[in-house]
Amino acid sequence: MCGVLGIALADQTNTVAPELLDGCLFLQHRGQDAAGIATCGDRGRLYQCKGNGMARDVFTESRMAGLVGSMGIAHMRYPTAGSSANSEAQPFYVNSPYGVLLGHNGNLVNTLSLRRYMDEDVHRHINTDSDSELLLNLFAAELEKHNKYRVNNDDIFHALEGVYRQCRGGYACVGMLAGYAMIGFRDPNGIRPLLFGERTRPDGTKDYMLASESVVLKAHNFTKFRDVAPGEAVIVPKDCGRNPPEFKQVVPVNSIRPDLFEYVYFARPDSVLDGISVYHTRLEMGIKLADSILKELSREDIDVVVSVPDTARTCALECANRLQVPYREGFVKNRYVGRTFIMPNQKERVSSVRRKLNAMDSEFKGKRVLVVDDSIVRGTTSKEIINMAKEAGATKVYFASAAPAIRYNHIYGIDLADTKQLVAYNKTTEEVSVELGCDKVFYQSLEDLIDCCKTDTISKFEVGVFTGNYVTGVEDGYLQELERMRALNAGCKSDAKAEFDIGLYNSADF
Ligand SMILES: *[C@@H]1O[C@H](CO)[C@@H](O)[C@H](O)[C@H]1NC(C)=O
Ligand SMILES: *[C@@H]1O[C@H](CO)[C@@H](O)[C@H](O)[C@H]1NC(C)=O
Repeated sequence: MCGVLGIALADQTNTVAPELLDGCLFLQHRGQDAAGIATCGDRGRLYQCKGNGMARDVFTESRMAGLVGSMGIAHMRYPTAGSSANSEAQPFYVNSPYGVLLGHNGNLVNTLSLRRYMDEDVHRHINTDSDSELLLNLFAAELEKHNKYRVNNDDIFHALEGVYRQCRGGYACVGMLAGYAMIGFRDPNGIRPLLFGERTRPDGTKDYMLASESVVLKAHNFTKFRDVAPGEAVIVPKDCGRNPPEFKQVVPVNSIRPDLFEYVYFARPDSVLDGISVYHTRLEMGIKLADSILKELSREDIDVVVSVPDTARTCALECANRLQVPYREGFVKNRYVGRTFIMPNQKERVSSVRRKLNAMDSEFKGKRVLVVDDSIVRGTTSKEIINMAKEAGATKVYFASAAPAIRYNHIYGIDLADTKQLVAYNKTTEEVSVELGCDKVFYQSLEDLIDCCKTDTISKFEVGVFTGNYVTGVEDGYLQELERMRALNAGCKSDAKAEFDIGLYNSADF
């Protein structure tokens, strides 16, 4: 799972990079693994800065100075099976045809056949395990088929039609064609989010933005915005001050299925995705969770509701209100714990959970506590939290998850864990309670969770992580391939690629 962003400014003498960096900070929660910005300046020249780490570390002042041009895209990477610590940061670039850049949020699930196609049919070399590199090369191969000196919008839409025809999976993408345009497109099921907006300048001309979450558009005063439709693409010309963007429904909307995980955990609460307020879904999750807990416990059985910061807070507070039980901030989060480096000969004395969270004894001592979290994945964090609550003196610990039990792979870009490492894998709720060491586990039912999120127009969601049924299906052998890559990546974490790459024609200070 990742964050993508693109901005095209009407005034081509302006520099877009500072605003892209600002936008990256609004999307940082979507990926802290790597960050990249690429811009397009005069004569179609491309400039880039990308590297492993958070945006503020990668984009230093001096590096930003090299990013010239009025149009650019950015990418924040979340680690997925195909993109380990030692693979390249995005955007990805190919020089032929025309110079194409792409930033991809999502995951393709027919990579085996795409790889074969690249090799045997179009003879393009793929140098990483990343499905995003495949997607970019597929797009480039489709553009190449026109075999033209210069492309126009129709050619691009036509090439995207080829991409849609061959790709299976979730993808929300921003890209650029050197000197020509910024483009955005979204998969036919709308699994991953993408929004488009405009900002009117005093002279009446307009700037344009593409972003993974509405919060970026709003913060940058792109007041008029909407979701890109599933199967829709947009082309924003480089001279967008004179020429308006062009939209096209490239393929028909398949059944629209936004990923429920965006609402449970991933997106910022102040974002609205596909017309659904993330914050309000989380309030609703708290209410439904309380109602289902009351089927098994009475409110007199619980003394206090405590949330696991930060995502679960909204849900926990509303759950407490519904239960009419006091809500307490029993765990305090240390905001300054980033990545910590464990030296080879240094034993990990304190678990990463304990470095991040501290339990306040006064809120647990002698109490029957309901701890609310957004989800339970491997269970290692939940286990530690339950231990901490007990050590702080809780007499009973109930543990509630705003999401249903996670028993399957997440295959569209939020790579959670090997299924066998999921605590609920092949286990009943009772067995999970025993494994976690708490008095009882409560899971939101899938039906309730869907009720929390659905609207008049969207009633179905991508829920494969809970059911094992994926909206696009998966190609034979794909899940095995996923596990193989995970194992491979696990073995080479320390072998990180060069920290920064500012290579791409980056000589702006001539
Ligand atoms: C935001 O854009 C609107 C026009 O859409 C304009 O009236 C307003 O002044 C802008 N706000 C800021 C803070 O620039
Ligand atoms: C699931 O659990 C049962 C016992 O609880 C065990 O017999 C079975 O082998 C497990 N299946 C898998 C696929 O692990």
